[in-house]
Amino acid sequence: MILEVKNLYKNFETVAGSEPIEVLKDLNMGMEVGESVAILGQSGSGKSTLLTLLAGLDSPSSGEILLNEQDMQQLNEEELSKFRAQNIGIIFQQFHLMSHLTALENVSLPLDLFKDKASIEKAQEALEQVGLGHRMDHFPYQLSGGECQRVAIARAMVVRPSILLADEPTGNLDSATGEHISDMIFELVEKHKMTLLFVTHNEKLALRCGRQLRLQGGKFI
Ligand SMILES: Nc1ncnc2c1ncn2[C@@H]1O[C@H](COP(=O)(O)OP(=O)(O)OP(=O)(O)O)[C@@H](O)[C@H]1O
Ligand SMILES: [Mg+2]
Repeated sequence: MILEVKNLYKNFETVAGSEPIEVLKDLNMGMEVGESVAILGQSGSGKSTLLTLLAGLDSPSSGEILLNEQDMQQLNEEELSKFRAQNIGIIFQQFHLMSHLTALENVSLPLDLFKDKASIEKAQEALEQVGLGHRMDHFPYQLSGGECQRVAIARAMVVRPSILLADEPTGNLDSATGEHISDMIFELVEKHKMTLLFVTHNEKLALRCGRQLRLQGGKFI
């Protein structure tokens, strides 16, 4: 198994004295290498919270997350950031590109973390794969939303991560562009035999994944 989640809980403390919000309650899941899984669930059900934990960007209140048999909780900050960069690609609804970096610099950033000598060539190739070979020196403000998301896809895939996490990657795009972007994600995942966890509200899109999970009441139903 590439991903194993055991008895995961996540609470958020809000105002001192009031009850914490329990978002994830005893959630369990597993994913095999090369599998694609969709996560569905109402707004506020905890989909983004779960992805944030799986990405190692926040810690669970309790429970275990094993990625490639590694418990991310056991790593120190430096080890964790390397582990993340090497194993996890993330695509968000809001793109999250660095505004002061060009498309090429955004995509080569994760490789630079390992002082990868071929970072420029790899980043160029990744941008060509998403059809942006001619826009590499442009900054995010010079690109459309769909183009920014293609840069984000290239950035997420350039390290050939063990798992690709996508949180509503088409949520901020018009329906035609969104369809184009989701086609691109599924094609690249297929081509590179990647493991994909795809959060979406869209039932039709969810059916393009091999398996669908529905989050409700803090766990999968
Ligand atoms: N940092 C935080 N502090 C307090 N509450 C939080 C925090 N982050 C998320 N929550 C709460 O956790 C719950 C789940 O939020 P989350 O963003 O995971 O939902 P979601 O399923 O991704 O929703 P959407 O479909 O709208 O994106 C919500 O009630 C939210 O208010
Ligand atoms: Mg969300």
